Amino acid sequence: MSRKLIAGNWKMNGSLAANQALLRELLAGVKAPVCQVAVCVSMPYLAQAQELLAGAAIELGAQDISAQVSGAFTGETSAAMLKEFGVRFAIVGHSERRQYHGETDAHVADKAKAALAAGITPIVCVGETLAQREAGQTEEVVKRQLAAVIHTNGHCISEIVVAYEPVWAIGTGKTASPEQAQAVHAVLRAQLVAASTLKAATTQDKRVPILYGGSMNAANAAALLSQADIDGGLIGGASLKAADFMQIIAAAQ
Ligand code: PGA
Repeated sequence: MSRKLIAGNWKMNGSLAANQALLRELLAGVKAPVCQVAVCVSMPYLAQAQELLAGAAIELGAQDISAQVSGAFTGETSAAMLKEFGVRFAIVGHSERRQYHGETDAHVADKAKAALAAGITPIVCVGETLAQREAGQTEEVVKRQLAAVIHTNGHCISEIVVAYEPVWAIGTGKTASPEQAQAVHAVLRAQLVAASTLKAATTQDKRVPILYGGSMNAANAAALLSQADIDGGLIGGASLKAADFMQIIAAAQ
């Protein structure tokens, strides 16, 4: 069983002073974690985080990435730029970007491709809304979202991380139950295994990590992380408090 991955998604939070305080606390508490740990910070703070995390066991992530290589794309940040700041992970297709920035499945798949081409691991987010869950469409929605990424990235999908984040659980305090989450993770696992079997024999036994995200916190992390197909967490609100984030890391060990 490979190490779990606990990734913080700071979203549009932080300041030079707040980041420094948070990262210093994390660095003091997370010396030799048994799991992989990452923080995904806002673009302007990448340089600060890179410097503070140099040589540490905490890796750096971005919250988005451009699907384009370079040129006239105002406001975008390319994979090569992120790479210069030591970025190891990039979240793609977070539901907030799908919702507020109109990102489609195809666009998300292209972003994952751009990340992979630069050696950055995309954390591909999928998840259903409450209306979709209530209409019995959960499986169909997450499979469609993941299928686009599989289709565009071929055998490279063995290099991605998937995050199942039910939209109704994000920032709401309503976590999916461990059983609800596990059920969806099992669906995604089967889809990934089938895809890797088709694409290339060599990728067959490489397990793509599937993280859970959506109101994961210090109290519920252990139960979620003990599920067979939950390989880690993508944590929003609770990653902004060092003590909470470190408790989640401890729950993953
Ligand atoms: P939350 O956010 O932990 O605050 O619910 C998770 C996410 O959106 O990645």
